[in-house]
Amino acid sequence: MLPLLQLVALLLHFIFISSFSAALAHNHDDPTIRTMEAFSGYPVHEPSSHGFSTPITSLSVDADTLVKQIEELSTFSDSPAPSVTRILYTEKDVLARRFVKSLMGLSGLSVREDAVGNIFGRWDGSEPDLPAVATGSHADAIPFSGKYDGVVGVLGALEAINVLKRSGFKPKRSLEIIFFTSEEPTRFGISCLGSRLLAGSDALAKALETTVDGQNISFISAASSAGYLTDPAQISTVFLKKGSYSAFLELHIEQGPILEEEGISIGVVTAIAAPASLKVEFEGTGGHAGAVLMPYRNDAGLAAAELALAVEKHVLDSGSIDTVGTVGILELHPGAINSIPSKSHLEIDTRDIDEERRNIVLKKIHESANEIAKRRRVKLSEFKIINQDPPAHSDKSIIEAMVSAAKDLNLTHKLMISRAYHDSLFMARVSPMGMIFIPCYKGYSHKPEEFASLKDMSNGVKVLALTLAKLSLQ
Ligand SMILES: *[C@@H]1O[C@H](CO)[C@@H](O)[C@H](O)[C@H]1NC(C)=O
Ligand SMILES: *[C@@H]1O[C@H](CO)[C@@H](O)[C@H](O)[C@H]1NC(C)=O
Ligand SMILES: [Zn+2]
Repeated sequence: MLPLLQLVALLLHFIFISSFSAALAHNHDDPTIRTMEAFSGYPVHEPSSHGFSTPITSLSVDADTLVKQIEELSTFSDSPAPSVTRILYTEKDVLARRFVKSLMGLSGLSVREDAVGNIFGRWDGSEPDLPAVATGSHADAIPFSGKYDGVVGVLGALEAINVLKRSGFKPKRSLEIIFFTSEEPTRFGISCLGSRLLAGSDALAKALETTVDGQNISFISAASSAGYLTDPAQISTVFLKKGSYSAFLELHIEQGPILEEEGISIGVVTAIAAPASLKVEFEGTGGHAGAVLMPYRNDAGLAAAELALAVEKHVLDSGSIDTVGTVGILELHPGAINSIPSKSHLEIDTRDIDEERRNIVLKKIHESANEIAKRRRVKLSEFKIINQDPPAHSDKSIIEAMVSAAKDLNLTHKLMISRAYHDSLFMARVSPMGMIFIPCYKGYSHKPEEFASLKDMSNGVKVLALTLAKLSLQ
């Protein structure tokens, strides 16, 4: 008996071929036929002796155009080239959105936007009522960052759609590109704002009603000045219905050095690490740096220093290379050389792909904070968990589809985890999810030196296109 999977695979091949042949039948002089034949990897005219086994030889990625578009998008920036600064709902952000929407239109996609400015470009499949297959990323950029973070997953997705269109492919499930609003927390302190809302967060919808930026401009008025919502009640209209998508994929630069160092073309992401962040404050009595003798001090700065070392210890004690912790902010008050710190403020980031292990680290940090405060006679005036997101695991069948696409294309690949988090972390709450990584120069990201080569981007686009095609037919 044929295993069920093989049977399904055969069936899919059949559907694949029949849709290609149908597209070709009235298209005999069309120069795209060769491309399509090459792309499909299957004999579209005469079945040859080796049947279905003919491999895919090429997908025609227009890499020059992709690079031109990336360059053009990078000019919508509030800092000089080669750096990019593009903050949510600013004039440059609005221009970037307009640029992407016009490209979506040129690719024949139907474009819609939701109340917070997530942008959707849809290519209807032959069965448009089935849940669609989506892909996308973000295009906002933190101050003085680079051109590729997020952008490769937006413009690369558009090129993947163009590759499929040029090949004559006809999707069964609709294919949709999503441009997410504000993956970076720059303006309102909330990362992945658009995708968190799509995943349906009542708490966030409520918080946004009163959220303001550093200039005391409210989220609502910033959004409305960019042409989006005018009434807080509209925020919850963004929530996606469960089952809207059968799959979500994100193409992204690795933002780490592994693929480049190992000379591997494609990273197939199996899990996204779970971030958690903490705000901690200690309060002591302060005093004159000369007058107060050591036995009489309760130094809030030393409490913070001890806690920073405790964070490192608890993270290392987890025994896993996947557990990380960082004290990225440590501030002392009043911050004068001759004054004992009376207050200290720490912000701590910890991540893991294992939620339980990360939560144990959080608990130990809390215990240490209490113990240090008691021993040093300072007050632990704040211990606040800012966020504690669960990790996400990629969907098994999407991993298989990505791996088989890489294999079909003869591209080396590696299974890996994403230590940075992405909109995919939140999309995983409402859809099966997968991510494709491509190498980037020295792993640089969030700085102007960020770079991905034309070849690596083309490879990523090909794998994305082929994976979308496979998932569209499932
Ligand atoms: C992959 O490699 C095989 C064997 O070397 C070759 O026959 C095939 O054409 C290659 N396919 C692609 C897409 O390059
Ligand atoms: C921010 O704006 C609100 C409403 O416009 C005002 O009531 C509040 O005092 C402002 N806060 C600051 C810190 O300026
Ligand atoms: Zn990103």
